[in-house]
Amino acid sequence: MKYKDLQIAVFNFSSRNKWYACQNLCPHKLEMVLSRGMLGDDKDVPKIACPMHKKTFSLESGENLNGDLDAIATYPVKIENNFVYIGFSE
Ligand code: FES
Repeated sequence: MKYKDLQIAVFNFSSRNKWYACQNLCPHKLEMVLSRGMLGDDKDVPKIACPMHKKTFSLESGENLNGDLDAIATYPVKIENNFVYIGFSE
């Protein structure tokens, strides 16, 4: 999804029964690709793996779990009445 100029990747992590949102931009090669990444767990931390070169990021803290790239932005998600709400601060 897009909010102003920001592209947000939104994930329904069904095995955790939870939703997550983060920036779509991968900080590795600055590609808008994280929404096409693969969800997974790293020591019980939900993570997204970039489809390009498999850098992984925590969907909670945004930390790069397999390298020293900058952390990605993550956003709180709330589900209410079948709507998905994403929290931003400007
Ligand atoms: S562009 Fe995402 S890991 Fe390289």
